[in-house]
Amino acid sequence: ASGRIAAFFVAMTMALVAAAGAVRRSEFPPGFLFGAATSAYQIEGAYQEGGKGLCNWDVFTHTNPGGIRDGRNGDVADDHYHRYMGDLELLDSLGVNSYRFSISWARIVPRGRLGGVNSEGVAFYNRLIDVLLQKGIEPFVTLNHFDLPHELELRFDGWLGTGIREEYAYYADVCFRSFGDRVKFWTTFNEPNLVTKFMYMLGQYPPSHCSPPFGNCNRGNSLKEPYVAAHNIILSHAAAVRNYKKNYQAKQGGSIGIVIAMKWFLDPIFFGEYPRQMRDILLSNLPTFTLEEKKLLKYKTDFIGINHYTAIYVKDCIYSPCNLQTYEGNALVLAVGERDGVKIGRDTAFQGYFVVPEAMEPAIMYVTQRYKGTPVYITENGYSQSSNASREELINDTERVNYHKGYLSYLSKAISNGANVRGYFAWTLLDNFEWTFGFSVRFGLYHVDFETQKRIPRLSAKWYQEFLAGSNLTS
Ligand code: NOJ
Repeated sequence: ASGRIAAFFVAMTMALVAAAGAVRRSEFPPGFLFGAATSAYQIEGAYQEGGKGLCNWDVFTHTNPGGIRDGRNGDVADDHYHRYMGDLELLDSLGVNSYRFSISWARIVPRGRLGGVNSEGVAFYNRLIDVLLQKGIEPFVTLNHFDLPHELELRFDGWLGTGIREEYAYYADVCFRSFGDRVKFWTTFNEPNLVTKFMYMLGQYPPSHCSPPFGNCNRGNSLKEPYVAAHNIILSHAAAVRNYKKNYQAKQGGSIGIVIAMKWFLDPIFFGEYPRQMRDILLSNLPTFTLEEKKLLKYKTDFIGINHYTAIYVKDCIYSPCNLQTYEGNALVLAVGERDGVKIGRDTAFQGYFVVPEAMEPAIMYVTQRYKGTPVYITENGYSQSSNASREELINDTERVNYHKGYLSYLSKAISNGANVRGYFAWTLLDNFEWTFGFSVRFGLYHVDFETQKRIPRLSAKWYQEFLAGSNLTS
């Protein structure tokens, strides 16, 4: 009887969801990639197995548990390193044709290039990639998703030392060489604009440096650091792109891009220079590109990955002078999500991430126009719930379903308006370690019980499955 009641409940909820609006897979172009996204540190666990070296997050979470909301870490996370086969079954059952995941640098090159390649790490990703391909799922690989081998952090001062560029180029080369016969979509970095801000400005991510007047810590304390780190990341990206284009692309036939949460990094990557108003504000705190470096930036990045979750109020300072004192990646920020006491959209469990589906369309149109039709992939879009919500709410996640439907319908509008969008990845396949939020918020299509590692499909997983199958019930 309880099964029947549950089935009735699901049917009722589906009906409510169906009433919230319609978007269909058939509105998207043929060959469009639909997938789910994850990242290595957030799901893999096995932090000291398979020859892996420690990464900056292993050390940070162990030495600074107070920096994580629930004091926890990614030692085990989803135990995906051991459970990947089951997880790929869950992924496959959604009916996706692509999977975005990241490679752990510390698993491939645990001690930097002098220490050589860890064959067990390579073997793990080989198995993962082979299983995906057997299932007809296209691997979409991120080379760097916030994690850095601890040893490189020590040796080069993380992203602050120029030596890190060669290390990154080496690591990327190992990946192209080992996996590029099967991986056709590469992204060099995930959200470097945000990560440099959290690492070197707000002090919330390792190595916890602050940049006055931001943050609350006594390390770093240099106005320059976030931009020096960013500069090194941009040039590391450029070096990987050049290598891929010169030595692999013709043979392997893939493409290479970068995943950002908007503008700061794209101008230098596409135009060889930082945005003008950024220099006006930062003056000599912003590095300049040498002629040699500009040459490196000439190799064209094939696509732009956009992680889109929310919207903020901004001011147009491009054609009129703004009195902005700081530049923190979004120079034009007026207020985060609230103006005159009115929120820009509904709250989610993740502070500052408001639900504003209609922002998807102008964001994409902006990138389309500014970067002249460069292909775009929505590499992340997702909805968070608090782990304190009731079990019922967590599993019957109508809000998440409506979130995806809303964002997908504005994505479809952008495509009708001429945007060259080629894929969409829901963040995320499974609940996982959400950085400084630990396990206190959940973004998964699958619910994870972290005591037992049991995965349970949410309503959103069922909805995505039906949407992808083109069924009429909920889509
Ligand atoms: C963006 C990041 O890429 C990902 O790691 C994170 O979990 C999600 N946003 C949600 O905050």
